[in-house]
Amino acid sequence: MKVSFHRRFGGPEVLEWIERPEPTPGPGQILVRVRATTVSAADWRALTNTFPGGVRLVAGARFGYFTPRHTVLGNDFAGVVTALGPGTTRFDVGDAVVGQTGLRFGTHAEYVLVPEARGLAKKPENLSFEEAASLPFGGVTSLSFLAAAKLAPGAEVLVNGATGAVGSAAVQISKHLGARVTAVCRTEHTELAKTLGADEVVDYTRDDFAKVGRSWEVILDTAGTATYGRVKSVLRPNGRLLLVNGTLADGLRAPWVAMTSDKRIVVAGAAPVEDPMEQLVRLADRGALRPTVGRVLAFAQIADAYREVASGHKLGSTVLSVG
Ligand SMILES: NC(=O)c1ccc[n+]([C@@H]2O[C@H](COP(=O)([O-])OP(=O)(O)OC[C@H]3O[C@@H](n4cnc5c(N)ncnc54)[C@H](OP(=O)(O)O)[C@@H]3O)[C@@H](O)[C@H]2O)c1
Repeated sequence: MKVSFHRRFGGPEVLEWIERPEPTPGPGQILVRVRATTVSAADWRALTNTFPGGVRLVAGARFGYFTPRHTVLGNDFAGVVTALGPGTTRFDVGDAVVGQTGLRFGTHAEYVLVPEARGLAKKPENLSFEEAASLPFGGVTSLSFLAAAKLAPGAEVLVNGATGAVGSAAVQISKHLGARVTAVCRTEHTELAKTLGADEVVDYTRDDFAKVGRSWEVILDTAGTATYGRVKSVLRPNGRLLLVNGTLADGLRAPWVAMTSDKRIVVAGAAPVEDPMEQLVRLADRGALRPTVGRVLAFAQIADAYREVASGHKLGSTVLSVG
């Protein structure tokens, strides 16, 4: 099978194609022929060894300090089950599925081995493989951070960076949970933000949301620009700042903020009570969550996909059609 591989950190130029034997599923494992995957912000960070301020110190344990720990990246996939390991019961050969390998990566390949018990669900029939592959990265992250925020119905939520992979899911899931949502994005993306369900949109190229005279119970930041210092005055009492893209300094500040104020900084999501993939699929089945597909490229164009992700301004998910 064809695999996108890298042996050192760097830009898309370090990627190479290699051939590997098709894996055989062991006990509890499923083999999936990948039809679509994505290049996510996590893939770009893992490839280039680039992390927000200070986070590299701790991220090195998972991603490698000097050489990559994960040489085949990719953590979303949609595809078809082609083989079942001993003891599996949930899926059949031929099932269309969607899933996430998380920080185990490995989906930038024609086949991926996954445990049937975790991170795998039947693909919603109303979604193409490309759409389904766009669900997990932003969806699981949003579910997990919003679970940590314990949103009350009617809560005022601001999503900073509302039209990328995480933000586009966070807007829709917040609405589904009954929140009133303010989306922050640039001019070209304001119509999309409204389509996602945002009640209000702030164009960050014209206005600073922290200075428009409004306040929120929850601020979810995917852009890395909503530092506590910038937003604390617009966080309501008991407000929560969900730093999906936070720095190490923000993480270290969190306990101090919790001790000295009525506000909270959240730097990691809560584990959702149920399997997050099943939750996402249910939301997608009901039409409560529409994956936001940005560009779709052929697997062979993976380097171009990384260049798109590197911009920090992509729309939704950048998808690779694996065929
Ligand atoms: N901690 C975790 O568990 C976790 C999980 C997933 C992702 N992440 C991190 O979260 C971040 C976002 O991931 P993603 O996949 O959503 O990335 P993405 O698709 O590239 O989205 C980034 C968003 O930031 C917006 N943006 C850029 N500059 C902005 C500014 N000055 N003000 C407001 N918005 C701005 C962009 O909007 P415009 O296009 O409108 O500029 C875009 O919507 C990444 O850094 C990723 O590593 C962390």
